[in-house]
Amino acid sequence: MVGDLDLGRAREVAVEAACSAGGILRRRMDSIREIRHKSAVDIVTDVDLQSEQEILSALLKAFPTHTVLGEEGGARLGSDARYRWIVDPLDGTTNYAHGFPFFCVSIGLEVDGQMALGVAYAPSLDELFVAEAGHGATVDDEPIHASSTADLSQALLATGFPYDRTEFPRALRSFEVLSLRSQAVRRAGSAVLDLCYVACGRLDGYWEHQVKPWDMAAGSLMVVEAGGAVSATDGSPFSVDGGQVLASNGLLHPALTTTLAGL
Ligand code: IPD
Ligand code: CA
Ligand code: CA
Repeated sequence: MVGDLDLGRAREVAVEAACSAGGILRRRMDSIREIRHKSAVDIVTDVDLQSEQEILSALLKAFPTHTVLGEEGGARLGSDARYRWIVDPLDGTTNYAHGFPFFCVSIGLEVDGQMALGVAYAPSLDELFVAEAGHGATVDDEPIHASSTADLSQALLATGFPYDRTEFPRALRSFEVLSLRSQAVRRAGSAVLDLCYVACGRLDGYWEHQVKPWDMAAGSLMVVEAGGAVSATDGSPFSVDGGQVLASNGLLHPALTTTLAGL
């Protein structure tokens, strides 16, 4: 129990919602009906909306008094503000719209301002990541752990670029510098999976200068519960609403914060 909430039940509902929304993403990949531009390069498809509807109706059916924050529908305040579900119904929409199979569904639950539960489902690989505060993180029910890479020159990193192109210079500068100091930097297009991959040791670190709560909620808890570290890019404390993120296996955190802070 967390407060008056049965976290086991919350986990069950979130896992079921993530998998069923993931099923929609998988089935609809070749039948996207509408692509709308939120800005020059930020798109939303009718599948994003269908997925969000599926998830929110499942969450609110089970927990009608909770607050929900969905990427597409925004915030809906519930009578019980202690509990906030943070949902990205399709993280990696650009990939999805091009048939590039790196995308996922993300559902996080915050209790009294702290992440309590994170669920991310990647339909293409049929992988389910789950983290519960204080109880570790898993992929397909197997415990996961951050990597043990201690040397930045041996690290595989990831990053993302903002939709706001006026923010590109800073993102490109950090991409350039860390590409030269690490083994390689990937830009695969799903912040949530980047975080999950740090959690399970496929990546040693990930940073992004402009991200939203739904990009970070579930994935940040995944990293912490897998023994990694999460902060703002300058090393200051992480906040789901803080707009930026640096995640690593912990060992690389000092080198990464020093590098990013110096740019
Ligand atoms: C985006 C992806 C991308 C990241 C962007 C996000 P969306 O989310 O996670 O990797 O670089 O910052 O906005 O729009 O596909 O849900
Ligand atoms: Ca996203
Ligand atoms: Ca999204």
